[in-house]
Amino acid sequence: MPGKKTRVLVLFGGRSGEHEISILSAASIIAAIDSERFAAIPLAINRDGRWLDPPSSAALLPPETVKSCSLEAVDISHQPGLSRGFDIAFPALHGPYGEDGKVQGLLEMGDVPYVGSGVLGSACGMDKDVMKRLFRESGLPTLPHVAVWRGQVRERRAEIERRIGFPAFVKPANLGSSVGIRKVKDSAGLLSALEYAGEFDRKIIVEPGVDAREIECSILGNEEPEASLPGEIVTPCGFYDYETKYLTDSAELVAPAELTPDQTDSIQRLAVLAFQAIGCAGLARVDFFIERATERVLLNEVNTMPGFTSISMFPRMWAASGISYPNLIERLIELGLARHFHARSVRHDYE
Ligand SMILES: Nc1ncnc2c1ncn2[C@@H]1O[C@H](COP(=O)(O)OP(=O)(O)O)[C@@H](O)[C@H]1O
Ligand SMILES: [Mg+2]
Repeated sequence: MPGKKTRVLVLFGGRSGEHEISILSAASIIAAIDSERFAAIPLAINRDGRWLDPPSSAALLPPETVKSCSLEAVDISHQPGLSRGFDIAFPALHGPYGEDGKVQGLLEMGDVPYVGSGVLGSACGMDKDVMKRLFRESGLPTLPHVAVWRGQVRERRAEIERRIGFPAFVKPANLGSSVGIRKVKDSAGLLSALEYAGEFDRKIIVEPGVDAREIECSILGNEEPEASLPGEIVTPCGFYDYETKYLTDSAELVAPAELTPDQTDSIQRLAVLAFQAIGCAGLARVDFFIERATERVLLNEVNTMPGFTSISMFPRMWAASGISYPNLIERLIELGLARHFHARSVRHDYE
């Protein structure tokens, strides 16, 4: 007798600037999931944060994608045991309210298994200030930075300039997709970039700009994470900004990247250590700089729910390493179920 299918609730959309890319990620996952083993159920969160039902969620996806979906009613509750209609959630959500631990917290309260990092890893991966401090605490190479609250930008401007110099990159601490980021060359530019980043987050980080290759590495696993072959992002102007990422599509994604065996080893080793330093689970894409002048390898950031369409960098690096896109989805679901199983074995009593 064939076993029952595992019902996978694919969460997508969300209250984030990365709403659209999340729809693409979910559509790819649903289209590629092995329908012999899994039943995908689409569930969208709209831009205002409202959760839709499966039929209205399916209406946001390409019709051919949802043909194989289950659209039966589901309940998602913060009360343990009261969520119904699915076996595991797959938050294909990017950015705030999806990748930053908030959805993960809701799912934890309801004792629901889910794919990817937990509350702590998700939150640390979203906050560039905390993430970089954890890298440093673990002895991992990353650029120096200053964090500043947006109310303090005028009073701390001279100090930031002295500590970081120019060119500098000014970024909202908690965001993605290069939104709110500016490269600045002088004092006047610094103040307006700080004020601009402050429109997107209360906390801002400033770090030195480097002339560097942008190398990425995918991680898969829980306690014993494995690293893919690294890939490279080649941008026309050396800044992988929002426009290059989504509007002009002018970046070239190369996988595997052209690196020496030593460089590949060191990227893979550092990617695993970065994943562990911020407490990730399931998957992550770890992004690096290799400074052109010195060949120094520096950690830029960890993305706990990287772009997940079949042509995104995360699956492409795994494809180059011998793991297909459908297989990746299967592994992630298994890792999410395993993590939930092990979390349940922890004692909550003490007598
Ligand atoms: N310190 C830096 N030096 C040079 N380029 C940078 C620096 N920081 C960011 N960038 C450029 O900006 C892009 C986006 O910055 P990143 O920190 O990765 O933010 P996001 O989370 O939005 O992707 C990078 O991919 C890179 O092209
Ligand atoms: Mg980035």
